[in-house]
Order: sequence, then C-alpha cells, then structure tokens
Amino acid sequence: MTDTPIKPIATPTPRRKPKPQVEMLGGRKLKPATLMMGHGFDPVLSEGSLKAPIFLTSTFAFENAAAGKRHFEGLTGRRPGGAEGLVYSRFNGPNQEILEDRLSIWDDAEDALVFSSGMSAIATLLLAYCSNNDVIVHSGPLYAATEAMIARILSRFGITYLDFPAGATRAEIDAVLEQAKDMAARQGGRVAMIYLESPANPTNALVDIEAVAEARDAVLGNEDVPTPIAIDNTFLGPLWQQPLHHGADIVVYSLTKYVGGHSDLVAGGLSGPKKWMDPVRALRNTIGTICDPNTAWMLMRSLETVELRMTRAGENAAKVCAFLAQHPKVEGLGYLGMIQDARQKDIFDRHCSGAGSTFSLFIKGGEAESFCFLDNLRLAKLAVSLGGTETLASHPAAMTHLSVPDARKAALGITDNLVRISIGVEDPDDLIADFEQALATV
Ligand SMILES: Cc1ncc(COP(=O)(O)O)c(C=O)c1O
Repeated sequence: MTDTPIKPIATPTPRRKPKPQVEMLGGRKLKPATLMMGHGFDPVLSEGSLKAPIFLTSTFAFENAAAGKRHFEGLTGRRPGGAEGLVYSRFNGPNQEILEDRLSIWDDAEDALVFSSGMSAIATLLLAYCSNNDVIVHSGPLYAATEAMIARILSRFGITYLDFPAGATRAEIDAVLEQAKDMAARQGGRVAMIYLESPANPTNALVDIEAVAEARDAVLGNEDVPTPIAIDNTFLGPLWQQPLHHGADIVVYSLTKYVGGHSDLVAGGLSGPKKWMDPVRALRNTIGTICDPNTAWMLMRSLETVELRMTRAGENAAKVCAFLAQHPKVEGLGYLGMIQDARQKDIFDRHCSGAGSTFSLFIKGGEAESFCFLDNLRLAKLAVSLGGTETLASHPAAMTHLSVPDARKAALGITDNLVRISIGVEDPDDLIADFEQALATV
C-alpha cells in the first residue's frame, strides 16, 4: 500500500508575530492604548480570528529535528539569542508572548515576562538573583507575602536582608547600602538586589527611586556585577508611574490588580531590559511559574481597557476622598492626591502622573470602629485585593498584614484604624452615599 498525501487546507496555520508591526503612523509613535488592540497578533494567520485564539497545547511540533535542536540550543544558552520558536508550554506560548509584548509597551521596556501570580513573579525574580550569603536591601513596608518571602523563606537559604523606610532620604539610603555592603563582604556574598515597593501596600508611602539609583551607583557602583533595582509598581502602574524612567531596572506587577482589573484572575508580571529578564526567564523555564494561556488571553482583554478603567477609577477616588477628607469621623487619609508631607509630595511630583484609586482611610477610633464601618458598607465589597472595577474595602492589620509582627506594624503605620479602600468605576455619587451611610453607623 502506498501512503496517500493529505491535501493541506488553503488557509495558513497559526504562527507568531508574522507581520511587521505598525508602531508608527504619519510620523507619530502609536500610544499604548492603541497598540493594545492588535500588537503582536495577525488575524490572517489564525483563520481570520479577530482576537487571538487560546492556544491550549502542552507542546509545539518542530518543523524538523534540526529545528528542535536549534531551539534547545537557544533555550539552554548554548547559542546566544534564546529560543527561535515555541517549544513547550512550561517555557512559553503564543498567548503569553503576545501579552508580554503588550505589557512591555506600557513601561517602555525592552522585554517582559508573565507569571501565574504576582508572588510567583516576585519569588522567581528573587531566586534568580540571590544566592547563599547575599544581602537584599528593601524598602518598607512591602506587601506582607513579599516580606515573608524575604525574611522567612530566603533566610533558610542563607540570604539576609536590611531595609529602609519608604520615605528615606539619599543619606539614609546610602547608610543602609554601606551597611549592607559590609555585611555582604563579611558573609562572603554580595548585595544581590535592591527591592522597592512604591507606593507601598497598604500605607501608600512613596520611595524616591531616583535617590535609590544614585545611592546604588555611589555606594555599589564599582562592584563587578551590578546590583539591580526592582520595584513593585502594582499600585500606580502601568498608567501613573514608569519606574524605568527614574532609574529602576526591573518593574514588578501583581497583574491580578489594575492590569487584570476585573477581580477575575490571578497573575504577575516583570518588565525591563532583556539582560535583566533573561536570568529570570531561565529560572521560570525550570520551575514553571509562567501564567496559563487562558489567563494570558484574559489579560489581553483587560489591557484594551486599562487606561479607561484606571482613569475613571482615579477620577472617582479624587471625588470620594474630597468627601471623606472633611468628614468628622475621619482622622485622616493616605491618598496620594492629598499628600501633606513635603518629602513625599516632592517624590510624588517627580515620579507619578496620577494619584491612583487605592488609599488608606484612618477612621477615628480603632479596630471596633473600623470593623463597624466595613460591616455596614452596602455597595463597596469587604474583600482583600484592589484595582478591580468594583470598590473594595479591607482591614490590613487584621487581614493582609496580620502576619506582620505588631512592633513592625506600628513602626510602618499599619494601625488598627486603617481601612484600605480601592475605588472602582461605579458612579462616584453612589459610592459617596455608601461611605456616608457606613460612617454614620460608627
Ligand atoms: C503590592 C502587591 N504586590 C504583590 C502582590 C501579590 O500579588 P498576587 O496576589 O497576584 O500574587 C500584591 C497582592 O495583593 C500586592 O498588593
């Protein structure tokens, strides 16, 4: 019997990045909001599907054995330049690659990587750069699980840390870096990473990224291997803060928050120059912390409206905070649109283009009064997380930051009367009516 060749279908098979991308038009560089509608995907090569299909496959067929070998040479670093094609879904897939291309646009970054959660992005990043005897310098506060990752998990592998308060001055940052350098030298390691979170969860305290970059260059500048500065930009990114423009090397996201924006997925991201992304990509390939194709598809859907959603939420937050600021039962607000402290205001003016929609509300009283307020909200949902279309409220001291020791909570200003609020895209007057009636019950 002879083999009968099967006639291929007329339409081409799906392929990645087949056409040159339109990034300029009429001499203008296209804006991120425009590029989110199609960048990195050509419908012609996926049966005309306007949206990218979800590529549910665990592995990718090679054209021939030599192509398979070439891909693995790139993947394993035997040949520079990385993999030339898709290999296996623990490494990457079409949905994740298109998403990574689109995510990098917002931060003006050369490269981006997506992960199964914000924490898996952070854990993969720290593990990629930090080894036994190394020191991490970080700003405080950090999201509680990030603090736990550094203080409780990495310490088991001989990695130590030092921290400085978010608002620290150049001189204070210099002093901590000098101390970290001595500590690393004594231990036989290096200062492996400077890790920032700004605005910090939950206090909204801002870090002077420019001062950190200058301090790193001054104190650690003559080390053989440069120390990267990573920053968690979850609260203001990608719209209102571009840390790579202020001296950071790696931007970190919980994409679960504003980027996902609908409280219906969990994911994380990193962006920055390829040289900083490559070691993290290699570790992600090994341990499989990449996000799945379905989540990547949902995030592409979300990126189409991120500017719209964040703009509306930011406008809503300004109106709600104007109401809350004058309310007799409110002790104060940690809202970036109403900064009192001169140093924090200076950092805000240099680094941020918007005040965001997540803030801390300090109720007159303590835990009982805060719980009463939270239990009586009718529209805002009592839930942790932030950055969704719906307004959320939570109590960090009793919830997200419960694991932080009491003394550290007090030092960082995470008090019992702090309620964290993330404003959504509802009608602002309806939200004000909800906060008014809940405050009346306190
Ligand atoms: C600032 C910040 N970074 C990181 C994370 C962790 O992200 P994920 O929950 O997606 O793992 C969170 C979660 O709340 C966060 O608020």
